[in-house]
Parts: sequence; C-alpha cells; structure tokens
Amino acid sequence: MKKEFYSIRINTLRAHDPVPFDIFLYIASRYLHYTRINDEMEESRLKNLKSKGVKKLFIESQDEDRYLKYLETGINSLSDTRMTVEDRASLANDTMLSSVENAEKNLETEVGYNSQKNQLEKISEFIGSERGPIKSMIAAAGISIDNSQHSATVSSLCMALAKKLGTLDSNAIVELGFAALLHDIGKTKLNFDANLPVSKMTPAQLKQYKNHPADGAEMLAGKPFVSPRILGLVVSHEEYGHGKGFPEKKNVFGLDTSYQILSLVNSFDRFCQDNSLTHSAAIDPFFSKHDEDFDQTLVSTFVTILT
Ligand SMILES: [Fe+2]
Ligand SMILES: [Fe+2]
Repeated sequence: MKKEFYSIRINTLRAHDPVPFDIFLYIASRYLHYTRINDEMEESRLKNLKSKGVKKLFIESQDEDRYLKYLETGINSLSDTRMTVEDRASLANDTMLSSVENAEKNLETEVGYNSQKNQLEKISEFIGSERGPIKSMIAAAGISIDNSQHSATVSSLCMALAKKLGTLDSNAIVELGFAALLHDIGKTKLNFDANLPVSKMTPAQLKQYKNHPADGAEMLAGKPFVSPRILGLVVSHEEYGHGKGFPEKKNVFGLDTSYQILSLVNSFDRFCQDNSLTHSAAIDPFFSKHDEDFDQTLVSTFVTILT
C-alpha cells in the first residue's frame, strides 16, 4: 500500500527530546528516512538541516495524532521564560504554519480540532503575555512569500489585535484565529498562481480570484468542527471600506469587530506580500491608500502592535 505523508515544520522539533515518530526528508521527489521513532533529535542535526534551508520535514500520516500530542507538549514551553522570546516566537510561528498546512484535516476529527484549539489558546496567551512576542513572531516569519505564511501571520496578527483591543472574549479570539488560518483555503482551487498580485491578473483570473472567499466557505461547510461564525469570517474576509471589497461589497463598518479585524489584517499582509514590504515599512503606504477603509480605532491599535 502506498504510504501517505504529513508535513511538519522544523522549528516545532525540540532538541534533546525523544521524537515519538519516524521522520522523513523529501529530496528529489522521494521521501527518505531520516530518524527513527524515539530517537533524540540532536541540536547539531537540527542546526545542520536549518543551515541547509530545510523548513519542512515529513512523517507518515498514521503518526499524525502522535505529532499533535508532541506539539501540545512543545506549545506548553511558550510560557517557559528560560527560553528566549525569539526562540519561543519561532516555535509559535512554525506551529502556526503546521496548523495552516493541516487545518482542513484537523477540522475533521475531535482529536485534531481539540489539539488545534489548544494550540491557538496557548499562542494567543503567549502573544498577550508580554511585550515583544508578536514582533518576534513577525520577525521570525519575515515577509509572507506563500499562502501558508500569509495565513499564519494573519492569524497571529488577528489574535494580537483582538487581545490588544480587549473587547472580544477568549473563545471569540480563538475562533478568529481559526478562521484566519483557513481564510484563503479557497485559493487552492485557483488554476493560476495565487500569489500573483491582483494588479497583474487577467480579467478571467480576477473573476475567479474574486470567488475565493465563497469557494473557501463551500469547501469548509459541512465539516463537523466548522462553526457558522468561522464560515462567515471566511466568506467576508475580502470586504473593506464602504463596499469596496468582494464578493458581496459589504460595508465593513457594519460588521462585527472580529470580521473587521480579519479584513484589516488580511488586506495589510497581502499588501506587504504584493509589494515585498516588511510590516513596519508598509504602514505609511498602506494607510495612506486606505485611510477611509477601516475603523480608526482598529487602525491606531493595529499600528501600536506593529511599531
Ligand atoms: Fe483572500
Ligand atoms: Fe488572505
């Protein structure tokens, strides 16, 4: 029977800890066995892989639950102040990336859903616990170069902004984090490069692109652990201003706070991606272009997070 593989992120692996699953590298279109179950991952091996630019490793799909439990143990170290904020921020960012890559699957089983919810709770606590984590997470992430990093960054920034605003309860913040991880899942249906800037799309591509929020909601509808609010957030994430967005040209100022947060953060990170700008460099050009498109309190709170 053909083996199936599940991707994991290298910064989620802990040195000097037995790893409860086999690990594979993907090289030249083949999965190569790298470490055996219960081997310790030595720091030198991790450093060596990272120095070669390896970001993703693979496990067999049958070990997915073991990996989720392993991640849960790791995520608890986000409150361990003996680790530097930078190391914890890298762990948090890579955990978010693993979540994006496996979010759809995680919403199909109770084990996956609970594990994902626990991760988001711990990351949102980490972000809200001390000054610096969100900036370190953004620094660890860099400019979003693909949809996985964009979704992970949007999720982290949405939770950071919601925490800072202080008007949403912790369940609403986790649900927002969940929706942000999944918000662009409809882009996987596009038959062209989803990272192409909107200004360079042909009319046919643009038409298809404008349907990605609705396509995403359609892909997620009916999954046992997707709430109506998550679906609503996914379908409305490209709405902004007084009807300037899509697909329904909604007035964003009339939407609930969590919708407005996702819309603002998504639009901002996409701007950074399209223009190859860091978050701090994008503040002035983005907000001079969109000075009337988002709620001013949201904008000023968002800027305090980024600067
Ligand atoms: Fe989108
Ligand atoms: Fe997006």
